[in-house]
Amino acid sequence: MAAVIDTGVIQTAIGSFALGIDRLRRVESAFLYDLEGGVSGDDQSSLKMLPAYIDLPTGREEGDALALDFGGTNVRARLYHLENGTASIIGEAARPLRETDRENNICRDYTTAETSPEELFDFIADIVKEAVGGNTRKNYRLGWTFSFPARQERLDHAELITWAKEISVPGVEGQDVVRLLRKALDRCGLKNVTVKAVINDTIATLIAAAYSDDKVTAATIYGTGHNTGCREMYAGESGRSAQLINLESGGFSKLMQTAYDAEVDDRSERPGTQLLEKMVSGRYLGELFTNVVAAAVRGEPGEVPPDLESRLCFTAVDMSRLLAAGTVPEQFDVLAAKLAPVLGNGFSLGRAEIAALKGLAEAICRRSARLVAATLSAVIKHNSVAGEIKPQTIAFDGSVYANMPGVAPAVRSAMDELLGEDGKKIELCSLMEGSGFGAAIAALM
Ligand code: BGC
Repeated sequence: MAAVIDTGVIQTAIGSFALGIDRLRRVESAFLYDLEGGVSGDDQSSLKMLPAYIDLPTGREEGDALALDFGGTNVRARLYHLENGTASIIGEAARPLRETDRENNICRDYTTAETSPEELFDFIADIVKEAVGGNTRKNYRLGWTFSFPARQERLDHAELITWAKEISVPGVEGQDVVRLLRKALDRCGLKNVTVKAVINDTIATLIAAAYSDDKVTAATIYGTGHNTGCREMYAGESGRSAQLINLESGGFSKLMQTAYDAEVDDRSERPGTQLLEKMVSGRYLGELFTNVVAAAVRGEPGEVPPDLESRLCFTAVDMSRLLAAGTVPEQFDVLAAKLAPVLGNGFSLGRAEIAALKGLAEAICRRSARLVAATLSAVIKHNSVAGEIKPQTIAFDGSVYANMPGVAPAVRSAMDELLGEDGKKIELCSLMEGSGFGAAIAALM
């Protein structure tokens, strides 16, 4: 008998990803508790809540600025021109951190433990150089979106606390990344570029959204990684001025994991950290899906490869294709191509398997959306003054929110479930590439 997919295993997993309203409320209150603990410096809070040393823009920032975006997948540098509240891009360069191009014999990966800090930062500086067309004379202000937890003492300084999203370049944690970038810019002759600001991508998105919308109170990155930043109102009330805070909400840990989540965490670079991120973000959704499919593949000994997970290796993009396709077996080429070597030659995907796999992708994405919604509802409640929720906007950046079928509506409906009538006061807006633009604004503030 060839190996088969046991759809019963998939159905049980789907059940374990369900997040009804009672569990959702518990996540919301646990997050609220950690938000409040984080503000009062309680070290039991799983939220780092890092101040950003910058406030929202006025919308009148103008001039030319370089924006450097380093988030874990690509490095992008853009030269922006801001005038009269509008922005144009006058120079640009971007490259992925990992790339395999067999035809041209290129195979590089700047994310691994084998990469030195100098190699990584020279790679980044080179992209900046390309974006300014190699100009080493004209002076440029640079705003840097650095999408990792970093402790700051001022706007042009950021000490990396820990890598996330499976990056493991040694010798950078605990260092001021601006100093490392500065040295690399000098090495490639870019003494004319001044690093004015370094901000998290949540803060950059918040700034970018606030440039044209004065009702924005929070920004969420929902893509390869996950995190939320907000304007912390409590700080203002207690006498200090209101601050922008990077919550590092991907590190929220008071969650119920399934066995599949535990597997993802165990196999990650840093087990026990970034638990919410590992349940919701694009970097990990495919792995969760893979783990369930691997558990559902049954066969006689010798028929099922021992390295099943690494052979299957589904990604969030595979899941989004699966969700966007209809119900005709021919539309599931990618799925079938990954399953065929594992399930043997006689294998073909039937309607029952397709329905089960689609249901699984839906359940994983829906849980992801509902968890994100619960944390956002908590942020809104936390920042309400005397219990009154004001009309406000939450900005989103990231491919899962923008492209994964069903995710944006699921966030909306879970927030409405949690906020009731107040849900109507909350606008959710998608701002793709907001994080780069926000860095340019920050450099001009
Ligand atoms: C990082 C955050 C970042 C988020 C989204 C997480 O892995 O810890 O700092 O905002 O990814 O890019």
